[in-house]
Amino acid sequence: MRIGFHCKQAARLGLVAFRFPRALLAASIMKLRKLPMLGLEYERRSDAGRPNREGYADGQSRFSLLLLKRPIIEVVLSRGDDLAAYHFFLARSVRRLFTQLGVIQDTFGLEFNKDVSSFVEIGCGSGRCIGALIDAYGGKGVGIDGYMDALTVAKAANIGTHIDYSHCSVVTGTEVLEYIPPNVDLVLFSSVLVHIPGQDGRRKRLLDAVKQVTRFMIGIERYDAQLKAELEDRGVRVAISDEEMLFFWSDQDVRCDCRRGTCYPPGEALGTS
Ligand SMILES: C[S@@+](CC[C@H](N)C(=O)[O-])C[C@H]1O[C@@H](n2cnc3c(N)ncnc32)[C@H](O)[C@@H]1O
Repeated sequence: MRIGFHCKQAARLGLVAFRFPRALLAASIMKLRKLPMLGLEYERRSDAGRPNREGYADGQSRFSLLLLKRPIIEVVLSRGDDLAAYHFFLARSVRRLFTQLGVIQDTFGLEFNKDVSSFVEIGCGSGRCIGALIDAYGGKGVGIDGYMDALTVAKAANIGTHIDYSHCSVVTGTEVLEYIPPNVDLVLFSSVLVHIPGQDGRRKRLLDAVKQVTRFMIGIERYDAQLKAELEDRGVRVAISDEEMLFFWSDQDVRCDCRRGTCYPPGEALGTS
C-alpha cells in the first residue's frame, strides 16, 4: 500500500516533469540555490508592470543561477501552464500535507476512516494535494480553481485518478456551490484562503456555502490573524502548528460555538474517533 502510494506520487511528478521540463528546471534552480557549499546565487525577475491577480500566477519570470555573478543557467517561464507547473514542484510537499493532516486529526480527535471517500479541493492549483489525498484514502474528487492553466497541469498530473475539474473564481463566495457535488465528505483548503481578499466578506460567504454541502471542512493556511478571526467567527476550529493555521469543521460540530468558547470535547462533538 505504501509502496503503491509512493509510486503514484513519483508517476505524478514524472508526468509533470515530462510535459513541463522548463518548469522543472526553474524549480531545480530554486532548490539548487539553497546549497551553500556551491556558492551559487539566484535571481528571479518578474515582468515589470504586470501585477499578480489575487494569488494567481501571472506575468513572466526569469530564473537565473549565478556563479561568480555570471548566469550559468537561465530559464524564462511565461504566464500560462509553465508557471502553474513550476508551482506544482514547489507546492507543499505531500509529506508535509500528511504531517499536517495528522496534526489535524490528533488535535480535533478525528480519524479519517473509510467512510471519507469524496473530496473537493477549492483552489486546487496543479492538483498535487487532492491527487495525493485520493491516492491515500481512495474515492473520487473535484478540484476547483480560478486559474485555468493550473487546471491544465492538474489534469496532466492526475491521469488515472478520479478527479473532475471546475474552473471557478471565488468572487462572491457562493458560486462554488454550483461545482461541489451534493453530500461531499470532505472539502480541503490548502494555501488558498490567504489569497482571497477578506474585506468584502467573500471568504465568510465561501465558508458558509461550503458548510451547507459537506460533512468535513479542513484547511492548512499560512497564519493570518484576520483569517483566523473569520474562521472562528464561522464556528471553525483553528489550531496553530509550525506557523500554519490548521482548521477543522464538521457538520456534527453544530453545537460548537467557538466564539463563546463553548466547544464540546472533540471526540464527543464529532463522534468519529
Ligand atoms: C498557493 S496555490 C495552492 C494550490 C494548492 N491548493 C496547493 O496547496 O498546492 C493557490 C491557488 O489558489 C487559486 N486561487 C487564488 N485565488 C483564487 C480565487 N479567487 N478563486 C479561485 N481560485 C483562486 C490559485 O489559482 C492557485 O492555484
